[in-house]
Parts: sequence; structure tokens; C-alpha cells
Amino acid sequence: MTATIKSAELREMKSDIKKADRATMAEKLGEALASTYVLYQKTQAVHWNVTGPQFHGVHKLTEAQYEDLAASIDEIAERIRALGAKTPVGLSTYIENSAIKDQVKYGDVESMLKQLSEDTLTVADQMREFVKTAEEADDVFTADLLTARIGVLEESSWMLSASM
Ligand SMILES: [Fe+2]
Repeated sequence: MTATIKSAELREMKSDIKKADRATMAEKLGEALASTYVLYQKTQAVHWNVTGPQFHGVHKLTEAQYEDLAASIDEIAERIRALGAKTPVGLSTYIENSAIKDQVKYGDVESMLKQLSEDTLTVADQMREFVKTAEEADDVFTADLLTARIGVLEESSWMLSASM
């Protein structure tokens, strides 16, 4: 983890969320953004490279999942802006700060689905940690946003593992 957002870099605004807490939440959201971005790419990798009898089902499922992830990337990024911080950018930044590893080689369908299902849960678990931080900071909107994401990701993970 490199990016450390400092309070001094944040936009001045009247908010009941303390400036230091806004900086902390922006940092956590930056990590959630990084993980979601890497997961988005890994979901597309499975969508593109799936073969065999499960092709149609997995191809459709992963399409719905990467579309959802794309929408959530934008939602998380813009929440960081609403908290007064700059949104981290750059694919290398995302890979460096992601809770899941970037991947360039894929095996058979079973191993692809297993890995993606596990990665999806890893991102959900990371967000669960951040919900606690958001609640401590009284950042109720971020807590809600991440809680909703956890529900979607846990469902996605189940659907991927049920497709094996
Ligand atoms: Fe497609």
C-alpha cells in the first residue's frame, strides 16, 4: 500500500465527518476502488476465455458481473471526490493497492471459476473491514455503499462457485 492521503490535501467543506476521517475513508475507498478494478479485469478475462459445456452460462454470468463492477467503480471513485479527496488513478496504482493479485495466465474453466469466486469474496471481506472504519468515522453513506457492495459480491461469488 503506497498512497497515503493527507488531511491537508482535502477540499475544505462543512461536514460533520472530521477532516482526518474523510482522509482515512478516502484512502480506504481508494483501496476498495483498486480491488474492484482488478476484479473487473479478472472477471472479463474469464468472460473472454471460458470454453466448453458451461460456455454460455459462464459467459452471460460474467458479463452481468463485470457490468455491475464497472458501475461500482464509478460509484466508489465519485464517493472519494464527494469526501473532498482526489481519486487515485493509473492501472499500476490499482494493481499495487488491490487486495487481489493481477493475473496474466489462466488455466481450465474449473480453476478460473474457483479463483474468481475466491477473489470476489476477498474483495467483499476487505470492504467489510472498511465498513467498520466508516461507522467509526460516522460516514454512514460510505458504510451503506460498501455494505451494498458486499451483498452483491457475496452473491456473485456463490454464483461463480455454483457454476463449477
Ligand atoms: Fe462480451
